[in-house]
Amino acid sequence: MIYMLDTANLEAIKKAVDLYPLEGVTTNPSIVAKENKPLKDILMGIREVIGSERMLHAQVMGETADVMVREADAMREVDPELIIKVPVTPQGIKAMKALKAKGIRVTATAILTPQQALMAAKAGAEFLAPYVNRLDNICGDGTLVAAEIAHLISVYDLDAKVLAASFKNVQQVHEVAKAGAQTVTIAPDVFDQLLKHPLTDSGVAGFTADWEAVYGAGTTVLDAL
Ligand code: E4P
Repeated sequence: MIYMLDTANLEAIKKAVDLYPLEGVTTNPSIVAKENKPLKDILMGIREVIGSERMLHAQVMGETADVMVREADAMREVDPELIIKVPVTPQGIKAMKALKAKGIRVTATAILTPQQALMAAKAGAEFLAPYVNRLDNICGDGTLVAAEIAHLISVYDLDAKVLAASFKNVQQVHEVAKAGAQTVTIAPDVFDQLLKHPLTDSGVAGFTADWEAVYGAGTTVLDAL
């Protein structure tokens, strides 16, 4: 499983890079707009925090393939390693083919059906991003869509990965992990929840109390050897 963080907030990214086995950061136009700064500053700021090894995904906004490709080129002048997110519209699919031909890595985004994902993979997208919670919210089945995309990748031996996105709770992340999604991108608040369990907290508190009763408050293994 590849974990990515779905945010452009530098404090949240710093925290996640420090704590978690994070392999990338994804953004979308809404996430970028929340930061209310020039896009160049946002991309450079994130790259500085995540380093050269982790992935950074940023989305184009144009309505035509031609504009999308020019946006991708311009963003990659700021960050040459950038992975370009493109929505699965007809013009988006055309842009994916053009970007693939230029050797640019692509994430197909705003995926709500397995057929959109299949078409995007055939057009050269490396990551396929189904929106799990947005489907669940309209009485759809986001996990099933992610699972069917994973199945299609396997059946047709496609050179693509599911990048499941749009989560509002831990159970949704767990369900897509079981369904074989290779990658997830998760907002910081849900990411933190992945490790939460009251019995873990009470277990650790119990170990601390037993230890400190013998070895003293605030001591560690280093003090007791
Ligand atoms: C990532 O690719 C998506 O843009 C994102 O996960 C959407 O999440 P939301 O449905 O919470 O806006």
